[in-house]
This record gives sequence, C-alpha cells and structure tokens, in this order.
Amino acid sequence: MTMRKSLAAALNDQINHEFSAAYVYLGMAAYFETLDLGGFAGWMRAQSEEEWGHGMRIYEHLAARDVPVTLSGLDQAETEYDGPESVIASALDLEQGTTRSINAVYARSLEQGDFQAKAMLDWFVDEQTEEEDTLRTLLSQVKIAGDEGAALLILDRELAGRQSANGGA
Ligand SMILES: [Fe+2]
Ligand SMILES: [Fe+2]
Repeated sequence: MTMRKSLAAALNDQINHEFSAAYVYLGMAAYFETLDLGGFAGWMRAQSEEEWGHGMRIYEHLAARDVPVTLSGLDQAETEYDGPESVIASALDLEQGTTRSINAVYARSLEQGDFQAKAMLDWFVDEQTEEEDTLRTLLSQVKIAGDEGAALLILDRELAGRQSANGGA
C-alpha cells in the first residue's frame, strides 16, 4: 500500500529525531570523557550507536516502501554539563520526548490504517518503555551516589561491565 504523504513526513522527522538523539548522546559521551568516567562515556557511546540504528530502521522501512527519505540537519550537540546527574536527567528528558514523538507517529499510522508502518513502530513503542526505565533507574543511582566519588566510581565500573556483557552494543 502507498504511504500517505503526512505519515511519510512524520517518519522522516522521526529519522531526524533518532539521529539527533545519537548526536546528543555522543555529546554526553564526550563530556564524560572529560571527567575520566570511562564507563559512563562508553555507555553513552553505545546509546549513541543504538539511536543511529533506530534511525536506520525507519530509513529501511521507507526505502522498502519506495518512500523518499529526507535527511534534515542536526543541531550542535551539548558537550558541557553540570555534573553526571544533570547529564542523566537530560538523557531521561530526551527519551521522554522521543516517547511522545513515537506515540504521535504511531497514532498517525493507526489513523491512516497503515498497518505496515504500525507493525514497524511496535518495536519502538516497546523500546521506549525500556529506555525510560533504564534511565530512571540510572538517575536514581546517580542521585544516591551524589558527590561521593567512591560511589560514582563503582557505578562507572558497573556501566563499563554492562557494555562488555552486551558485546559493546
Ligand atoms: Fe531511539
Ligand atoms: Fe533511546
């Protein structure tokens, strides 16, 4: 079935949203590099790669359906933050924004009876539940650690361990 123009535009916007998120996470990684918190930095880099992959999922769907892909610009990413807690709080905000945006595209796919797009987006709906949960947990833990260097270093090491457990993904 031919995709309606308004849904195609919304999905192209979502590609930009995902690639922008990749860029934002990369900026967060760069900030953690400056703190020498390699576990946090690596975790943020892995997030960045995941977001790039999310954009590519939509790209592939559009390509498979012969819908033209548009690639709009990315804004400069922040690389200076006010400590680990402010980074994680921003990341949670970012994910909550992504959830709103995914929900809006999802609603549009249902409105238009575009079940192919809807099926592709099902994965994103589940992914957002997981992303928000992960970041809420991490934010609680960073808050508990507070200004205690030792606690932050333990958390940093734990985050480093998570990536090797996931094979770096
Ligand atoms: Fe995403
Ligand atoms: Fe995400």
